[in-house]
Amino acid sequence: MSENKTVTAPAEEPKVRYGRRTSVKKIGQKSLWEKLFKRKKKKGSEEEDIADAVASTTTDLFDDDFEKAAVYCDNVVKIYKTEDVEVIALQGLDLRIDPGEIVAIIGNSGSGKSTLMNIIGGLDKQTAGMVYVTGNNMAKMTEAQIVQYKRKEVGFVWQNNARNLIPYLSALENVQIPMIIANRKERKARAKMLLDMVGLSHRYKSKLNQLSGGEQQRVAIAIALANQPKILLADEPTGAVDNKTADMIFDLFRRINKEMGVTIIIVTHDRTIARKVDRVVNIRDGRISSELLRQDAYEEELKRIAENRIVGLEESHVEYAAVDRLGRMQIPADIMKEIGLLGKGNVSLNVEGEKLVITVPEEGQKKKKGS
Ligand SMILES: Nc1ncnc2c1ncn2[C@@H]1O[C@H](COP(=O)(O)OP(=O)(O)OP(=O)(O)O)[C@@H](O)[C@H]1O
Ligand SMILES: [Mg+2]
Repeated sequence: MSENKTVTAPAEEPKVRYGRRTSVKKIGQKSLWEKLFKRKKKKGSEEEDIADAVASTTTDLFDDDFEKAAVYCDNVVKIYKTEDVEVIALQGLDLRIDPGEIVAIIGNSGSGKSTLMNIIGGLDKQTAGMVYVTGNNMAKMTEAQIVQYKRKEVGFVWQNNARNLIPYLSALENVQIPMIIANRKERKARAKMLLDMVGLSHRYKSKLNQLSGGEQQRVAIAIALANQPKILLADEPTGAVDNKTADMIFDLFRRINKEMGVTIIIVTHDRTIARKVDRVVNIRDGRISSELLRQDAYEEELKRIAENRIVGLEESHVEYAAVDRLGRMQIPADIMKEIGLLGKGNVSLNVEGEKLVITVPEEGQKKKKGS
């Protein structure tokens, strides 16, 4: 007899090596890309039926109001091609972020976080799938439109401070640069206002090497906000600062999100970010694998922190496994291990009331059936 086991959301980060490098060697002249997306369909074949089924699913489940989303990713694939190797960095990623949300993206090294941020930020284009950001179809934009988009719609904060700031200019001058490029008026007043907002009123005249790591990042945030972007993208903004400074920077993002209404996406390795945002999206192998959502209001969290009553994330948040539009779901490795699924490959699925029951076949059961 096989034993039924109901799969529930994992409480802890699954102990799995994410970000596996999926490199595929070209076979003959046919690249993986051609094999995946440019296969010739045989008339009436099973392959054609599957392709039709996928196409109809795509249309049926497509969000009608996707253009209203701040970020809308639909089945996004990104393949990096080098001489003889192809790396699939995003493998059919679906994600919707609405205006005004503050979302963290976590995932191990190589899981595709920066790839996704670069596509959203207009620095790179997806290989397949759809990406809409603030109503712009990223794949269809011309070079000139992308330049305008990067100037006005998005602001970027990087881990590397040298990428954010020009070293020989003061903080005040640095914040004015994007406004000069965008030909904005009243630049100095706005630069001062932004530096005041990030708590650097006393640092207007300081240059890069006169600022601490945390202060440099706060200037970088002011620079990113200079042209009133709709979206603020931060890729590992706290990667080079200590925990206390990281906490302060996350608080600052939260405040900017609430006060300015700007949509914020923060990539981090730090799972405690969940305390500062309402939603944490977990990327694994180039796909959303799970989402961590806050169960109670942020105000409740602040009250708990003030009273020194810190509870575990599993008490304050609920984690959901992500199921994409094609019905694909990633089962975390620890659950796979627990139910004895590792290395098995096949399971049976049964709906029992409102539960989906995944049953691992007993040893030899599959063989018996087939023989
Ligand atoms: N320009 C590129 N050319 C080839 N492969 C690339 C390129 N950029 C990224 N990759 C590969 O794509 C995959 C995803 O990389 P990405 O930088 O998005 O990961 P990440 O989640 O941001 O990792 P980290 O946490 O280390 O920053 C990795 O396997 C990486 O080696
Ligand atoms: Mg990265």
